[in-house]
Amino acid sequence: MRGRREGTSHGSSGTAAMWLLLPPLLFLILLKTDFLPQVARFRETGFTKVADEMVPKVSTLGSDGARWQQQSHDTVKQEAAKDVAAPIISKLTCNFSNIHSDICIMEGDLRIHGRSASVYVVSASTFRPESSTITVKPYTRKWENFTMSRIREVTMRSMPPAPHSFVIPPRCTVRHDVPAVVFSTGGCGTNFFHALNDLIIPLYITAHEYNGHVQLLSTDYEPKWVAKFRPILAALSLYPVIDFDGDTSIRCFPLAHVGLESHRELGIDPGLSRNGYTMMGFRDFLRSTFSLQRPWATTISRSTGQKPRLAMVLRRHSRAITNEADAITSMEDLGFEVVAAGPEDVSDMSQFAGVVNSCDVMVGVHGAGLTNMVFLPQNATMVQIIPWGGLKDGCRYDFGDPALDMGLRYAEYEVTADETTLKEKYPRDHAVFTDPKSLHLQVWKIFLEGQNVTLDIGRFRELFGVSSKGLSSCKGSWEMNGRHESAKQHGSGGRGAVLWLLLPPLLVLIVLKTDFLPQVARLRETGFTRFKDEMVNKVSSLGLDSSKWQQQSLDTENPVSAKEYNQQNKILATNGAKDGSLINSDVGAQTISRLTCNFSHRHSDTCTMEGDLRIHGKSASVYVVSSSTFRPENSTTTIRPYTRKWERETMSRIREVNIRSSAPPPYSFVIPPKCTARHDVPAVIFSTGGCGKNFFHAMSDLIVPLYITAHEYNGHVQLLITDYNAEWVAKFRPILAALSIYPVIDFDADTTVRCFPAAHVGLESHRILGINTTLSRNGYTMMGFRDFLRSVFSLQRPWTTPVSRSSGEKPRLVFVLRRHSRAVTNEADAIAAVADLGFEVVAAGPEDVSDMAQFAGVVNSCDVMVGVHGAGLTNMVFLPHNGTIVQIIPWGNLKYPCRFDFGDPVPDMGLRYEEYEVTAEETTLKDKYPRDHPVFADPISIERKGKIWEVFLEGQNVTLDIARFRGAMQQVYQSITTE
Ligand SMILES: *[C@@H]1O[C@H](CO)[C@@H](O)[C@H](O)[C@H]1NC(C)=O
Ligand SMILES: *[C@@H]1O[C@H](CO)[C@@H](O)[C@H](O)[C@H]1NC(C)=O
Ligand SMILES: *[C@@H]1O[C@H](CO)[C@@H](O)[C@H](O)[C@H]1NC(C)=O
Repeated sequence: MRGRREGTSHGSSGTAAMWLLLPPLLFLILLKTDFLPQVARFRETGFTKVADEMVPKVSTLGSDGARWQQQSHDTVKQEAAKDVAAPIISKLTCNFSNIHSDICIMEGDLRIHGRSASVYVVSASTFRPESSTITVKPYTRKWENFTMSRIREVTMRSMPPAPHSFVIPPRCTVRHDVPAVVFSTGGCGTNFFHALNDLIIPLYITAHEYNGHVQLLSTDYEPKWVAKFRPILAALSLYPVIDFDGDTSIRCFPLAHVGLESHRELGIDPGLSRNGYTMMGFRDFLRSTFSLQRPWATTISRSTGQKPRLAMVLRRHSRAITNEADAITSMEDLGFEVVAAGPEDVSDMSQFAGVVNSCDVMVGVHGAGLTNMVFLPQNATMVQIIPWGGLKDGCRYDFGDPALDMGLRYAEYEVTADETTLKEKYPRDHAVFTDPKSLHLQVWKIFLEGQNVTLDIGRFRELFGVSSKGLSSCKGSWEMNGRHESAKQHGSGGRGAVLWLLLPPLLVLIVLKTDFLPQVARLRETGFTRFKDEMVNKVSSLGLDSSKWQQQSLDTENPVSAKEYNQQNKILATNGAKDGSLINSDVGAQTISRLTCNFSHRHSDTCTMEGDLRIHGKSASVYVVSSSTFRPENSTTTIRPYTRKWERETMSRIREVNIRSSAPPPYSFVIPPKCTARHDVPAVIFSTGGCGKNFFHAMSDLIVPLYITAHEYNGHVQLLITDYNAEWVAKFRPILAALSIYPVIDFDADTTVRCFPAAHVGLESHRILGINTTLSRNGYTMMGFRDFLRSVFSLQRPWTTPVSRSSGEKPRLVFVLRRHSRAVTNEADAIAAVADLGFEVVAAGPEDVSDMAQFAGVVNSCDVMVGVHGAGLTNMVFLPHNGTIVQIIPWGNLKYPCRFDFGDPVPDMGLRYEEYEVTAEETTLKDKYPRDHPVFADPISIERKGKIWEVFLEGQNVTLDIARFRGAMQQVYQSITTE
């Protein structure tokens, strides 16, 4: 630019630069000077006056009247804040997209009433469209409608504080200063697998980060469950669990979770966990909770006579090992020290955790008892005996895959048709043997409840013979405990004795009850510790986990060969992406799509989704197709994709977009349409129906939010516009083209079914003409946004350069002029005064300003922008960094709202801000109202009547006191120039 300055014939070189930069403007100016007598005079002083007789409607559109409504709310609340509780903006975010659970997280002013299962999310935001009530069943088996039907619903009601709401949120009777976690214990009895999988691991993922400083509230409160898992609950929370349903207090919390996060069967997906939690970490947590001594299984040397220790988990009633005594003997023969545990021993969690942790191997037939593998030391081995009936995949899913994530080794022993007691009930040509999978709808009854297992000892032994080579021992840590030396009386060395010592109450029981168990005596002689087993623990054979099998049979339709499986596991074990590994070989229908919506922001509701998305503009529908076969209630979410949520009137003009979650056929009644066009980039759906072409609104409501939402895709994103405003799109095409390399789609007219891998419905908006960097996924800033605009419009000056007064250079100033309202009646004098101070002045009327691309260049060539409050000042986004904006504030106590629009956003843009507040002497209101009128005496009363727009914004022009204005501008001049 500097290089262009030579050759100028006008007073200052800066002006000439503009001539060159903007030939069409130059043309206009030359043609129109006769209409503007005062311009001639100013041009002599280096002032370029541009055509201004036409007033574009946009900058005075009534649409920003609504903005003023909001501002008056904001100011009222500031005052009100002194009386009642501070005006908190509460946040509520829900995720309905996980196949295991729906969860909501909220913070702010939360009031929880257990008795009515209500969470009041009280927020200073005074308007929320429709979805002001969200219902969640806080349990983690969302796909099991029978289980879920027993879970109580918790309702979150978003509402403003009194007096803005008809429903008055209740007052707190108890205040907690820790977060709340609301969940249900009504789903699973005390079955250990379900307790761990459905509740304990999800509780760990959700609440462990608070390090005990969290209040647990349980709906469908099960005292037995709470009693059984008290050691773990106490490690998660310092406070007793509250029985939610019986609680009549109104408890206030700063933060709350409703529902627990759950990622997969007996596992944690570190990638989904906010804190990167892992199953290894969870096992450390359990080890600390139960004071377990052995973090690692240590390798044992056979030659030293040490024996690896093996826990044999025994079942009764079903999946029992009919020849368990022989099986145990054979393992002892191989050199193991065997600890056999019947259901009742297993059910005493704290005791049994210690037993398991003392072992190197755990063996058992598929069943809840195997869940105790969580207590095994790292590197220990878990052996699952898989009953007859094509159950391999399901069994691996429950215990095989999770074992690997836990840092355990996994082996399995699949029972043959010869080893099942089913052969006593069914002939060998029955489908039970010839085609077991055909009977999987009855898997629970036939194969899980209906068989015992008679192990082929020779074959079983082989498995152990092989794996014992790699097995390890607990000896080291037992020596450390110093307990083994008291072991004497039992034949096979110290290990069995250690257990006696460890478990004195059990010991007594065993001694008392041996007579019921003839085979035990024999086994004890060989060092086998046998526990009482005549009582059958009901929990581990409860019908509850039958529903788990339902899901599994859906998920594991395609069997994977053992070899493939092992390969998969090798790979998967390292990348941790095990979810869905067994199912994704099928058709596209097998996608698990994700949908996350945020209704908590005061500017906009947004939903983000990924997976199998099918978008039909004509019906304003987005189908989120997922292989999840069950979703409770809320399967349609409605969003009005505009960013002025608090303005009822504006929002009423915005078309609703419906997001329908559905399963692919045949699981769903709503059949999602087939794709007719496939896009391989994300979609962003938003409305241009809210703001006309008003530049302030375009920037604040759409362009900045579009930048926040879509810039990360670097152009590889498809924009779809509802309430398509062709003029708006034409005007902002340069910016839209920089955000997306594809033409914008008119959503409402679009009959194509477009499929996308990801989509945003609604735009993120943080604040007026600004970006809150911490809320932005990508840490975007207004500086970055301005860099983006500079690149879009090829603006030359990133920074203002200091001007030296002695060199005769002049800082350049653009004076943004309005017509109709908030005009400067003596603008010629004002401009002359500023020019006199040493500025080179560029005056710009509304039409110049409205030519965005041109005017962006003009503004960027300047160091200072001056103007009366109005949309034109939004052009400050084009000023170079360190530029100065001077806002002239009209009469009427408008300082706060004017700052809100154009003062507060300035520092974030890297600009300087000055303001010039007009006095009662400088407004043309004095021509209309006597000086004792409330307009002068009590302007706030006009605001209270809701007349700001009419009286102060549309109703006045400004006649600047030139001397006063000159004084203010002189300070600006001094501050941006050097000697
Ligand atoms: C569970 O879903 C099945 C169909 O998938 C339906 O027939 C049954 O009524 C549902 N049960 C409940 C309790 O909703
Ligand atoms: C655990 O097992 C792995 C793989 O077999 C081995 O490399 C590692 O040394 C073992 N860790 C311990 C502490 O024994
Ligand atoms: C399994 O064996 C137990 C005895 O140990 C017996 O009570 C039960 O009925 C058997 N179950 C089946 C399905 O055979």
